[in-house]
Amino acid sequence: MAFVKHNSEVLPERRGVVVDKLQSQIDHSLRNTRRGRRFGRVSGRRLLIWVFSLAVLFSIYLSVFGFNMLHVNMDGGHSSLRRVEGSSAHDVSREIRARSFDDEASEQPRKKLRRQRFFPCEVSFLDSVNYFIEPKDFANISEFSVQYVEREERSLHDNAFKPGFGGHQTLEEREKSFYARNHTIYCGFVKGPDGFQSTGFDLEEEDKRYMSSCSVAVSSCIFGSSDFLRRPTSKLISEYSKRNVCFVMFVDEQTLSKLSSEGNVADDRGHIGLWKIVVVRNLPYKDMRKTGKVPKFLSHRLFPSSRYSIWLDSKLRLVADPMLIIEYFLWRTGSEYAISNHYTRHCVWEEVFQNKRLNKYNLTAIDEQFNFYQSDGLVKFDQSDPDLPLPSYVPEGSFIVRAHTPMSNLFSCLWFNEVDRFTSRDQLSFAYTYLKLKRMNSDRPFHLYMFKDCERRALAKLFHHRELSPPPVH
Ligand SMILES: *[C@@H]1O[C@H](CO)[C@@H](O)[C@H](O)[C@H]1NC(C)=O
Ligand SMILES: *[C@@H]1O[C@H](CO)[C@@H](O)[C@H](O)[C@H]1NC(C)=O
Ligand SMILES: *[C@@H]1O[C@H](CO)[C@@H](O)[C@H](O)[C@H]1NC(C)=O
Repeated sequence: MAFVKHNSEVLPERRGVVVDKLQSQIDHSLRNTRRGRRFGRVSGRRLLIWVFSLAVLFSIYLSVFGFNMLHVNMDGGHSSLRRVEGSSAHDVSREIRARSFDDEASEQPRKKLRRQRFFPCEVSFLDSVNYFIEPKDFANISEFSVQYVEREERSLHDNAFKPGFGGHQTLEEREKSFYARNHTIYCGFVKGPDGFQSTGFDLEEEDKRYMSSCSVAVSSCIFGSSDFLRRPTSKLISEYSKRNVCFVMFVDEQTLSKLSSEGNVADDRGHIGLWKIVVVRNLPYKDMRKTGKVPKFLSHRLFPSSRYSIWLDSKLRLVADPMLIIEYFLWRTGSEYAISNHYTRHCVWEEVFQNKRLNKYNLTAIDEQFNFYQSDGLVKFDQSDPDLPLPSYVPEGSFIVRAHTPMSNLFSCLWFNEVDRFTSRDQLSFAYTYLKLKRMNSDRPFHLYMFKDCERRALAKLFHHRELSPPPVH
């Protein structure tokens, strides 16, 4: 155990580097093969060179991690969990390590395991954005119109009243908000009465104007310097998307100064690479992870005229064209909302267990939320049920593709409200929110597409979080 623990402290960095190199070799080779198909065969010598360098890299990789791998193989897929358990609980980067060891391990024959882990699966994008046309009706969209609570008026005599970003939705209002019909619901950005201070998530007018002009948005956020800035891989993004898609990275002032101190300074237009940097002042929650759920879920409010949006966590680098992603995951599947499933877990019970075991959040708060959901009809995921409404009840929510249709927007608001009311662990509320929305609107279709985690890896490359200043847990 001691050795293993030692490993987990020392190796993540180096391991990341080797894996990245390996991955880039693989990417390179894939690109070459693809190019080969288009422009004739790769020359024999180049092939030899890369096979050789791949072999060298692989042997370095093995010699450094051989023991670790052996350990995993002997213990099977669960060893990573045990390792995480043995180390200090909050470290998110360790979770990611655990994750890469976990990935589909149980399904794969052991010999294959090593290679399979890092391969994303095939996503058959169109060759180019030049050939596609936005379909007029790509899904049977439910039409209704939702308004949002803009301001809460409470009697000024109520001294205890404190305005909050999420508002003070009663349970009765919460229940009604699930109906897909013309009405007014809570969806963040709730202001207090005149004279009260801002409830947070303050943006510059100029940035708001910019964001209002976007018809397709790709966004991400870093709050509390929790991550490095991962720029989308420019050469994999079409000129069309560069011209027509807004790439917005929300940061707080702390992150902004951290980034500047590292030489990541925005240009005259406020861009770093493709990212337009938008500074958020007066964060609405003490919990940075909860604050991160504002841009994650509420893109339809932040980009009010956008018709599509893509969310990615800051631990991911976008390595595919956003319009091709929208075409593939929404138009081609006739969906309004696409999210990947979890790499191993499908049942909320398991997810709750893991969250508590890794001490992800205040345990009492997790129990409160989970008990509430069980009393309101949440049931276990049953793989043998032929009428399963979802391929998994646990999402890997780091990548979301959305059309801003009424149902999709409603779902985003409802999911956000759960995070506002309960814990920031959105994997816990996903299935409940979805199933309740479906249950209460059996006459209204909502086209949610859950894609495979390996597909997500074809769109975005996973990195470790920055290791300093873990966000407060409350
Ligand atoms: C709901 O709102 C839409 C758009 O504003 C409107 O066309 C429709 O008539 C409304 N439906 C009802 C039942 O009020
Ligand atoms: C944990 O959550 C419970 C219930 O929401 C709350 O009463 C308690 O104060 C929280 N504990 C901490 C340390 O935040
Ligand atoms: C579209 O949805 C409506 C309900 O909103 C349903 O009555 C209709 O049959 C659906 N049409 C198709 C083609 O699925």
